[in-house]
Amino acid sequence: MEGCKIYYYLVVLDYCFRENDEKCMQKIKKAILTGGGRATRLRPVTSTMNKHLIPLANKPMIFHAIAKAVEAGVEEIFINTNPGETDLQKHIGDGGHWGIKIQFFEQTGGPQGIAHVVNEAQKFIGDDPFMFYLSDNIILGSIKPMLDNFAENKFDCMLALSKVPDPNRFGVPIFDSSNNLIDVHEKPKNPPNDFAVTGIYLYGPKVFFDAFKKINKSARGEYEISDIHSYFLKNNFKVGHKEITGWWKDTGAPIDLILANQLLLEEIPESEFKNLGQVLSGAQIFGKVKIGVGTTVDQDVKINGPVIIGENCTLKNCIISPNVTIGSGSIIEGVEIANSIILTNCHLICDLKIKDSIVGGNVQIKKKNNDGFHRLIVGEQTVIEL
Ligand code: G1P
Repeated sequence: MEGCKIYYYLVVLDYCFRENDEKCMQKIKKAILTGGGRATRLRPVTSTMNKHLIPLANKPMIFHAIAKAVEAGVEEIFINTNPGETDLQKHIGDGGHWGIKIQFFEQTGGPQGIAHVVNEAQKFIGDDPFMFYLSDNIILGSIKPMLDNFAENKFDCMLALSKVPDPNRFGVPIFDSSNNLIDVHEKPKNPPNDFAVTGIYLYGPKVFFDAFKKINKSARGEYEISDIHSYFLKNNFKVGHKEITGWWKDTGAPIDLILANQLLLEEIPESEFKNLGQVLSGAQIFGKVKIGVGTTVDQDVKINGPVIIGENCTLKNCIISPNVTIGSGSIIEGVEIANSIILTNCHLICDLKIKDSIVGGNVQIKKKNNDGFHRLIVGEQTVIEL
């Protein structure tokens, strides 16, 4: 009798360990993040810089994606680059900054769609579950609950959804009359609902790479991630989905960057807004304002936070309104700036009022000559409203 009892306990224990083991096997420790692409809609800023390095809240956009992944428990990140590009490596390094490992890989043949990026990372992923995260997607709040939900339910794939006003710009989930997810359509002309499949995807072991063999390039010449999900849904794979109820933004267009900058500035806690510069008495500083080392703020400056000013900047006789970030090495004089992203080493020395704008690195906007003419040396796809 006693022997039977012990046998029973051992069976229960073994079952518990196996259950836990399987859950652990679905625990995501690896992530692929995007670092390549053409980003034509963000020109001219992206004519000279990788889109993922555009600063939001004065940090390269991709840093926010890395931080989200790390916070959710990811320990290894793999980032694709366009052939020959090395800027991301220089800015991001080996991941030591975040206490994780980061490696880069070139996308053979350049941009060919995001499903192709994932497939190119197969050698790093092996048979492990993983997350794929589009680094130009900015969200507020944690993604950890989504990763936990994925592991608990042992899904083959899990998609994050978000309500948007313009679903025709995205992958759109298709539901049947009982609200079951049955398909995903890429950029449908007439979306049947107002959900977008966001750029955060979770995959179980191996399934992605098997599915990739079954899809072809789309009409726009890309291996579409939506075709992978459509394949899963039509072939009885276990696909979960979760709505991101907080804020989510695909920063594909300039206005999205300005909005993302604003939301991130609002989200960052007050404790991170430190004044490490020199603020002369008389200057008026209100709200959350972060000032970098070596920056001087004159007595005739007014700043209304949230605002972040980089290192070694000079601010004189100007008004900086909420939701402005100014890159290091900039000189700001005479202007009024609101709701804008100013990159590094800009000289804005004039009496303009600048709002909802993005000013690329090393740009100079100065007072006109006395002859009344404006002198412009302007690159391709620049927008100026005078
Ligand atoms: C891509 C995906 C699309 C998804 C979007 C999210 O679109 O193809 O399904 O909704 O990312 O950001 P793309 O940026 O390639 O237009």
